[in-house]
Amino acid sequence: MTRFTDPTLRRDQNGRSQEDRNAEDFLAVDNLTVHYKSEGYLIAAVKRVGFSAAKGERLILLGRSGCGKSTILKAIGGFIKPTSGSIRLDGKPIEKPDSDRAMVFQEFDQLMPWKTALENIAFAIRNARKLGGKEAKVEARRYLKKVGLEKFGDSYPHQLSGGMKQRVAIARALAAQAKALLMDEPFAALDALTRSQMQEELLRLYQEEGFTLAFVTHSIDEALILGSKIVMLSPHPGEVIETIKLNSSAASGALKEKINAILFKDRVEYVI
Ligand SMILES: Nc1ncnc2c1ncn2[C@@H]1O[C@H](COP(=O)(O)OP(=O)(O)OP(=O)(O)O)[C@@H](O)[C@H]1O
Ligand SMILES: [Mg+2]
Repeated sequence: MTRFTDPTLRRDQNGRSQEDRNAEDFLAVDNLTVHYKSEGYLIAAVKRVGFSAAKGERLILLGRSGCGKSTILKAIGGFIKPTSGSIRLDGKPIEKPDSDRAMVFQEFDQLMPWKTALENIAFAIRNARKLGGKEAKVEARRYLKKVGLEKFGDSYPHQLSGGMKQRVAIARALAAQAKALLMDEPFAALDALTRSQMQEELLRLYQEEGFTLAFVTHSIDEALILGSKIVMLSPHPGEVIETIKLNSSAASGALKEKINAILFKDRVEYVI
């Protein structure tokens, strides 16, 4: 059995692993702790989390349900304030939501229901890129085409399937041309075949657009397909257990086994 030492020993004062100490800081999360207030109690959702992503990285936050993945992503999005710690994107501290970050959520109902697919995307372009109405619509059409929905521009969200709505949400996020694309389990509620198609599409879009991605999942398979770097989190409250940089030559079967061991099998060694 693989043995792991106490993970806290591997991290520096900013909560970062060796891998992160060497990495370029385009997205930098240092010592992030988030508490939620619930019925008078403070609940620690994530504790001293640290990692970084280079420009163009496909960073995966991987961990079990409730470990704080969404919390971290929402903090990067600027939607929740950290209890302590800091987050920087391209050198700028993150304090609130802004157009330099675009988010895709798990839920299919993140589009404005009173706007068509095209209008949803055009609206985001106008906000984020300050384009006029006509130019925004031309751009929106271009991005709808990128996700294979050029024929559905005039459809309203309720007329689209779950997978199609997620494609519109992805097109909208990409069209904003943000510095970082934040995705919170965007494919989790899709059937296996659609999910796999969407993963391939996301990788193709990455080749075309070259964005920096922070992607949350609890699927090891999805992490290995999509990621260039995986940050593994312990169960509640989430702490970074291990960070792995992936290179295409890594045998994914062996890696899957290793990640499985780190996340699930050997956890007891951390607890005692
Ligand atoms: N608004 C909130 N108020 C109180 N506690 C919260 C709130 N949001 C999340 N939590 C708690 O914080 C912890 C982390 O939640 P979070 O949603 O970030 O986990 P997650 O890893 O995204 O889980 P999942 O994989 O199920 O989506 C959980 O214990 C959760 O109960
Ligand atoms: Mg979540």
